[in-house]
Amino acid sequence: MKISIINGPNLNLTGKREPEIYGNQTLDDYMKILAVAYPDIEFTTFQSNVEGEIVNEIQRVGFDVDGIVINAGAYSHYSIAIADALKAVTAPAIEVHISNVYSREEARHKSAIAPVCKGVIAGFGLDSYRLAVEALDTLLNA
Ligand code: DQA
Repeated sequence: MKISIINGPNLNLTGKREPEIYGNQTLDDYMKILAVAYPDIEFTTFQSNVEGEIVNEIQRVGFDVDGIVINAGAYSHYSIAIADALKAVTAPAIEVHISNVYSREEARHKSAIAPVCKGVIAGFGLDSYRLAVEALDTLLNA
């Protein structure tokens, strides 16, 4: 099974950025642990701070991989372009957030991409990514 993990703006600073919200572990370290935990899954990972590059990556992988795990960062809350890209491709996507966006500012309560995703996982720290992989695994093997 092939899963693409796509991260948006500022997520490259995870581990350094607001550790009280996002924790102390880097995303790269976490992704390595995830790859070891799921040796049968072929992961590709991508991060960009640029909206169009995220759209390009969704288009690039979205007809090839079996599923997408996406944390679009702040773009999640308003990017119609990322939502359109997710809708255009064949791979099902799970929206992920490290923090519980619903316990934060109101602007973070809205998601432009949730309607085109299979589901949303938020608030479990970096473990949100593992939970999304589990969800995709279950979905794809149903
Ligand atoms: C985030 C939540 C977003 O509101 C925020 O803009 C991020 C990270 C999260 O993973 O909790 O950059 O997507």
